[in-house]
Amino acid sequence: MILLSKETDINAASIRLTQCRNEEIHGNIMSSLKKTDPEIYGVILKEKERQQNRLELIASENFTSRAVMEAQGSILTNKYAEGYPGRRYYGGCLHVDVIEEVARRRACELFHAEHANVQPHSGSQANMSVYFTAMKPGDTYLGMDLSHGGHLSMGHPKSFSGIIYQVVPYNVRRDTHLIDYDQVRDLARAHRPRMIIAGASAYPRVIDYATFGEIAREVGAVLMADVAHVAGLIVADLHPSPVPHADFVTSTTHKTLRGPRGGIVLCRRKHAAKLDSCIFPGMQGGPLMHVIAAKAVAFAEAQTPAFREYQSEVLRNAKVLAEALIEHGFTLVSGGTDNHLVLIDLTGMGVNGAEAQEILEQAGITVNKNTIPFDPLPPTKSSGIRLGTPAVTTRRMGPDEMRLIASFMAKVLTNPSDEQMIARIRRQVTELCDRFPLYANNGDGQV
Ligand SMILES: Cc1ncc(COP(=O)(O)O)c(C=O)c1O
Repeated sequence: MILLSKETDINAASIRLTQCRNEEIHGNIMSSLKKTDPEIYGVILKEKERQQNRLELIASENFTSRAVMEAQGSILTNKYAEGYPGRRYYGGCLHVDVIEEVARRRACELFHAEHANVQPHSGSQANMSVYFTAMKPGDTYLGMDLSHGGHLSMGHPKSFSGIIYQVVPYNVRRDTHLIDYDQVRDLARAHRPRMIIAGASAYPRVIDYATFGEIAREVGAVLMADVAHVAGLIVADLHPSPVPHADFVTSTTHKTLRGPRGGIVLCRRKHAAKLDSCIFPGMQGGPLMHVIAAKAVAFAEAQTPAFREYQSEVLRNAKVLAEALIEHGFTLVSGGTDNHLVLIDLTGMGVNGAEAQEILEQAGITVNKNTIPFDPLPPTKSSGIRLGTPAVTTRRMGPDEMRLIASFMAKVLTNPSDEQMIARIRRQVTELCDRFPLYANNGDGQV
C-alpha cells in the first residue's frame, strides 16, 4: 500500500471553485463565526470542501437539506425544555411545545405509528431507551451478531447493551448470507429472551419483520425493530415496515431518512408512558429542541413524492453499483443487494478492509471497513468494506456514475501500489464531484 503526497491529491482549480461556493453558502450565515472564531470557521470550510470533493459512499451518511440545517442551527438551541409538551419543568416552553408536538405527529404519520418519542439524542440512545423500557438489568435478549451485520448497541461487550444485559447473538446463514430465521426461532425457544431485536447496520437484504414477530409472540418476547438504516426506504414503501409487527421501532434520523443527527422511538400506545419516562428522566435531561425542530422538517420532507422518488433512485443506484462491481470481479456478501447498501468481501484480493478503506481514501472515495459474516479478521482490520448510495444519490448521481464509481474502485483496489494511477483516479473523482455540486441549488429544501 502507498500513501500519496498531498500535492498529487489536489486539483487546484476545483478546490478554488469549491471555496467560492463555500463562501456563497456559508458566507452570510457564518459571518459571525468567521469573525469570532476563524479557527473553527476555517475547519468547517475545509470539511465542506472534503464533502464536496470526495465520493461519499458511507452507507450511514447523507446530506441534509438547507432547511434541516437552518432549523438545527437556530435559536432553539437556547431553550431548556425538560419534560414533554404541556408537562415541562421549565417556563417559556409554549413555542417549543408546538415544535415537539409537530415532530411527534409527523413521525406518527410517516411511519403509521401510534406513538413517537422524538427526544433521543442518537440511535444508540433510542435503543437504550427501549432496553430500559422492556428489560431489567441481567435480562436476556436476542440480537444480530455484530460481525454478521449487527450494531454495537446490540450487545458489544463494551456497550451498555452488552454490559447491562445478556445478549444471545444470532447469525446469517453461511450459504446465503441471509438471516437464519430457523436459528433465531431455536435460540428464542431455548433462551426465552425478554426481547428480540430485528435490525442491522450492514445487512444488504430485506428483513422479514413478520417472521420476527411470529417468533417473538411464540416465546412471549417483546419485539424491537431497529430501522436506522432502512427508515427512508420504509417510509417510501420500498422496504416492509416493522410497525405492524413490533412493539417498539427505533431509528436514527440521519441516514436514509436524511434528517439531522439523532434518534426516535415509535411504539404502541400501551407502551407510551413507560417509554417516555425511560427517556426522560430515565436516560436524558433536556431535549435538543433545535434538533427536534430539524427532525420535524425532515419528516415533512420525507412525506413528499420527491422523497419517494429519491429513495427509489437510492435503490436503483445500489443495484447498478452492485452489478457493476460483480462485473469487475468483486465478491459481494449475499451476492448483491435489496437495499441501499453493498458489502464487498475482499477475501483473496490482497487487501483487507482497513487497507482498502485507506487506499480508496487516497483516491477520493470514502468508505468504511466492515466485518463480513464469519470474518477471520478482527473488526480493526476486517475482510470487507461497506458501501451505500444514499449520499451520492442526494447529489443526483445516477446509474452512469455508479458504473464509473465501480470502475474507479476496481482500478484502485487491483493496483493498490500504482501511485500514478491512483492520482489519476483522484482527479477523475474530483471532476465527477464537480459535475454534482453540493448545496449548489439555492432553492427551498433539496440539496
Ligand atoms: C442499526 C443501527 N442502530 C443504531 C445505530 C446508532 O446510531 P448512533 O450512531 O446515532 O448512536 C446505528 C448507527 O450506525 C445503526 O446502524
